[in-house]
Amino acid sequence: MIDDPMTSPGCMQGDDTDKGFATKAVHSGMQDVEGSAATPIFLTSTYKLTDERYKGWADGAQHTLIYSRISSLNSEVVSAKIAALEGAEDAEVFSSGMAAISTTLFTLLSSGDHIVASADCYGGTYGLLTEIMPRMGIEVTMADMRDPASYEEAIQENTKVLYVETMTNPVLKVCDLEAMAEIAERNGAVSVVDNTFASPWGCNPIKMGFDIVLHSGTKYLGGHADLIAGLVAGKKELIADIFFSKIHYGGAADPHMCYLLERGMRTLHTRMPVHASNSAELARRLESHDMVESVRHTSLKSHPDYEVAQRIMPKGSGMLAFVVKGGDEAALRFMRSLDTIFEATSLGGVESLVECPFNSSHMFVPEEVRHEAGVIPGFVRMSVGIEDVEDLWKDIDGALKAANKFLETRA
Ligand SMILES: Cc1ncc(COP(=O)(O)O)c(C=O)c1O
Repeated sequence: MIDDPMTSPGCMQGDDTDKGFATKAVHSGMQDVEGSAATPIFLTSTYKLTDERYKGWADGAQHTLIYSRISSLNSEVVSAKIAALEGAEDAEVFSSGMAAISTTLFTLLSSGDHIVASADCYGGTYGLLTEIMPRMGIEVTMADMRDPASYEEAIQENTKVLYVETMTNPVLKVCDLEAMAEIAERNGAVSVVDNTFASPWGCNPIKMGFDIVLHSGTKYLGGHADLIAGLVAGKKELIADIFFSKIHYGGAADPHMCYLLERGMRTLHTRMPVHASNSAELARRLESHDMVESVRHTSLKSHPDYEVAQRIMPKGSGMLAFVVKGGDEAALRFMRSLDTIFEATSLGGVESLVECPFNSSHMFVPEEVRHEAGVIPGFVRMSVGIEDVEDLWKDIDGALKAANKFLETRA
């Protein structure tokens, strides 16, 4: 047996700061039991109380293994790994990305406070900002995350948080995180970024001055479309506050899911380059396709934020968007003519997925807000997987031809 894998504070292993990203992805946080090469699943809801754990409890309970809604051996491993990959002081893991986002924001904001965010963000976050927060007496101002100055202009005396996404969902605008972090610091606001679309392989916002970075672990971190998870990493004292709310809100991550998440995170650095190169190649070919009106990918010079993207997330990600000629009907025909790539509302897995945001991830975002953000008729979002790129292209080209035939027969 290991001496005590459940020590307090925490199971965070050694100092990984001098190690490279790939080594951290494979090793950071990992707990061996009886010399195991992988962390076993520790299926227990509670842990035997010892003097050390009573002390951990008295000290605030974070990273103390007392009860699995607070922390589990497997959640500790994942927290340590995301902290290492993001270069953060500390981290917590949650039952979903939305649990991480809502718990974080409701920790930082109280009735009477103000947050500056952007309307073109993930649909669930948009709902939280526009429906739940106003009911709680929290003021929300929507600015443009492509334009850090618009955030600064929106700041009020009661502004507590500036909220952005590294790359927006679904139109793939890129935020100048360095400028945004500086504005937050200058104005005494906490800077929070959803880094899901870039992953820690693509971008490390903490190193650019951000206070808190969030992830839907469901996406690139898990990487295999087989789990739902959320993570938050950042400054120690902020994470300690968020941890405290987590206990009360209850969005804890179960050990089995954390085991899968750790396994996914161990190969992040091997999957991401393929996601990035496959999506860049498809973007390049789509740009000259007759059935395509426009293409968004951070590797294309035509991307409106090309310069910022090259600075903030130069290695790219697997996210691609394009507008199919002929509007939503043609886009739907395109999607339903695909064979290998299938229509589903998620991203970041090894398999390629496609969706029209208007009837899926952004269904509840008002049409005018979607159009304003750039989700125009025919808009398709694709999460490019790690399959053979020639197979993906054959699939896409064939489905675009089918959409074209549909338009011709309709004319
Ligand atoms: C950018 C982004 N943030 C957060 C979420 C929410 O994550 P989850 O579905 O794990 O709650 C999603 C989900 O699609 C997302 O795309």
